[in-house]
Amino acid sequence: MTVAKRTFDAVIVGAGGAGLRAALQLSEAGLKTAVLTKVFPTRSHTVAAQGGVAASLGNSTEDNWHWHMYDTVKGSDWLGDQDAIEFMCRKANEVVVELEHYGMPFDRTDNGKIYQRPFGGHSQNYGQTPVSRSCAAADRTGHAMLHALYQRNVRANTQFFVEWMALDLVRDSEGNVVGVTALEMETGEVTIFHCRATIFATGGAGRIYHSSTNAFINTGDGAGMAARAGIPLEDMEFWQFHPTGVAGAGVLITEGVRGEGGILRNASGERFMERYAPNLKDLASRDVVSRAMTTEINEGRGCGPDKDYVLLDITHLAPETIMKRLPGIREIAIQFAGVDPIKEPIPVVPTCHYQMGGIPTNYKGQVVVPKNGDPNSAVSGFYAAGECACASVHGANRLGTNSLLDLLVFGKSAGETVVEDFNSGALPLRELPADAADYSLSRMSRLESQTNGESVFDVGLEMRRTMQKHAGVFRFDDLLKEGVAKINEVAERAKRTEIKDKSKVWNTARMEALELDNLIEVAKATMVSAEARKESRGAHVRDDAPDTPETPNGRNDKEWLKHTLWYSEGNRLDYKPVNLNPLNADTKPIALAKRTY
Ligand code: FUM
Repeated sequence: MTVAKRTFDAVIVGAGGAGLRAALQLSEAGLKTAVLTKVFPTRSHTVAAQGGVAASLGNSTEDNWHWHMYDTVKGSDWLGDQDAIEFMCRKANEVVVELEHYGMPFDRTDNGKIYQRPFGGHSQNYGQTPVSRSCAAADRTGHAMLHALYQRNVRANTQFFVEWMALDLVRDSEGNVVGVTALEMETGEVTIFHCRATIFATGGAGRIYHSSTNAFINTGDGAGMAARAGIPLEDMEFWQFHPTGVAGAGVLITEGVRGEGGILRNASGERFMERYAPNLKDLASRDVVSRAMTTEINEGRGCGPDKDYVLLDITHLAPETIMKRLPGIREIAIQFAGVDPIKEPIPVVPTCHYQMGGIPTNYKGQVVVPKNGDPNSAVSGFYAAGECACASVHGANRLGTNSLLDLLVFGKSAGETVVEDFNSGALPLRELPADAADYSLSRMSRLESQTNGESVFDVGLEMRRTMQKHAGVFRFDDLLKEGVAKINEVAERAKRTEIKDKSKVWNTARMEALELDNLIEVAKATMVSAEARKESRGAHVRDDAPDTPETPNGRNDKEWLKHTLWYSEGNRLDYKPVNLNPLNADTKPIALAKRTY
């Protein structure tokens, strides 16, 4: 197979919010920048983000970044790095106002400011009362954001490679990253993208689960490529289950619905969140609400003939509010649940939504790995931002609307770091190794020649079922142990996948097989990391971690206040410390405490 080569200053993989924000920084600084994307940029999964982006603008209620930082550290169950969290919360207003200036059509308050609504876990005065912090464009914030960023990139001459799938990271003999290989879907040909800086912004991998709010494109491509290239994946045991996916369909119903006054009810109509989170109730953080819903269902208080969902009620809201602030949700409820939420409540269940872990980075967007005694040594030429990265600002549980903020802040920050490194001469165009494309070509040729192999669909289905059953909202020691054995078996089967259609042009079967390779890395990382973490923290809640004065909510800071690092080679684990120190010496650290809402 012939392999073409193209050279750029920087190559970004992924054209969602993080990729587009990073690209803009680079292109506006005059760097020759390529963005590779499986789908047209405005169809990236950021488009599905509904409820808003967090920033302490204080347009509707008093707010400041200190409160936002406190909420984020508490939400993370203290697993988030406080330097990165401070950085993100302090930068929030700047990146949101920038978007406003790019023309993003935010909703407005009566006096013309950006409209803000309450969201789960966001509070005033260190957890006292809900705050309106989520800056929203109705319930289509991600859609509006992608369009604003894409148009700005067109203006800045970013070069887009649309319908290209990145295959593998290319590292030289010293471990520096010198580019990626990629498959052009239209031709089936492989190209090497040789560059000074490679930025991964490939989004999440929610498709490892059976029930997911994630798009079919969310196959953990960045995590898979990084893992195969020897980079560890951080904190992969922590997955967010969004409380309100449409029952049976999984489609997201934004938390903004509860922000606008929506209430969760069980079969007897009870507002059950009052029992689980007396202070913030339906606006407690997502892990808390998802567990409360699951408990209601498990204890027989669910709704419907099988008692397997609860209801999200907005029938008490004015129809004009629903039409103005939640028009997309009304449409989704009618299409996917068959109910008009103006008249009837929506059946909902917790659904896999977000990966808190990912490729380890610092707040500058540099990918970091343990090396020579330094747990956070930067890999030259490699950067990551957005859901595929672990900065780590979300720790064990992310707050709603901090994902759009994460991708703006760290997309921009990664871009700024590359520009700085480029200008200082720290980013030479290093030589490509002679075998740069060999690994990718060998993966392609295995697929060409495999006979009597496994069906990609069957292996994928087994993976999704295994993850759903063995690493769900609640986790059990025996199920996790079984899960590790099962996922290792599935991974073995994935090495022998076979595609019947060997054609080159637009061969979606080949792409799905390659995507499965990435999903499998993420699934293994998740199961192995989860089985090993013998405590409850944030979204990782085990049956065998009791709530005691020394282990609040089952959290064991003595032994487990540390980040997990999973290595693909040897399926092995390592750990590194959590940074409990904020970025600036005059910012007070948020002290460890029991998490209640
Ligand atoms: O509920 C939502 O609108 C989702 C937001 C988020 O995941 O941040």
